[in-house]
Amino acid sequence: MSFPSICVFDSAEVAVRELAGEISELIRSRAAQGRMAVLGLATGNTPLPLYQELVRLHRHHGLSFANVVSFNLDEYMGLAREHPQSYWAFMHRHLFDHIDMPESHIHLPSGILPEADIAAHCAEYEARIRDAGGLDFQVLGIGGTGHIGFNEPGSPKDSRTRRVLLDELTRRDASTAFGGIDQVPTQAITMGCGTILEARRIVLLAWGPRKAAIVHTALRGPLTEQVSASFLQEHPNTSFFLDRDAASSLECLPSATPCRSVTTPPRRACVPG
Ligand code: F6R
Repeated sequence: MSFPSICVFDSAEVAVRELAGEISELIRSRAAQGRMAVLGLATGNTPLPLYQELVRLHRHHGLSFANVVSFNLDEYMGLAREHPQSYWAFMHRHLFDHIDMPESHIHLPSGILPEADIAAHCAEYEARIRDAGGLDFQVLGIGGTGHIGFNEPGSPKDSRTRRVLLDELTRRDASTAFGGIDQVPTQAITMGCGTILEARRIVLLAWGPRKAAIVHTALRGPLTEQVSASFLQEHPNTSFFLDRDAASSLECLPSATPCRSVTTPPRRACVPG
């Protein structure tokens, strides 16, 4: 069997409706069993429409997040929670402030730590994920370097939560939001590739033509530490949710095999890649 499945949608909006539907089914089925749903969450531009859709489902369709526990992928080193560019602030601005998830269920690595505490903090983050029962569902974006989380080129497949140096390209991509590359932190704490790959279900999102080449490399290139998203090729339950532009370098489009374009709001419209 070949992994992962590739799902091509007319637009990001259609894709996130499908994804939010899958996530809400997980949350509701767990709630019915009196259990928690453990979500791994990403920041950046890519998941913004997903968070809008989840907020809409909460406001207008009664989706409760009371039984959700979340673990974010990463946080910039040196940014306090209150910093507008911190991922803690991002997640509250776009999701947590608008849903009924208890604050105690929310986990992000801390960006403000004394040097001596960093290793213990990372080990504790891993332990918390384990204690929660592991990640049920991990949402990912993909960076220009092919990173998932902040697993930049050179990140081993079995890497765990740790401090990393950010690649120059990653810092350049973030420079507009920070008002200049000099303002972008040089380090972050990220879940490792090994941590991410233990999630029981993974969906990587990518929109727009700028992501087309790196999506192609991740899916069709060799498995390599140089492109951490390539490790997803070996994960048995990963889907790439792409809009047409992000899928435009995949050789199988627009013909019907092996990918299939999705033109209407789908249910389970994925095919193996
Ligand atoms: C964010 C993260 C990163 C981003 C990636 C894409 O928590 O871990 O891997 O998903 O850099 O960023 P955007 O979505 O802004 O293109």
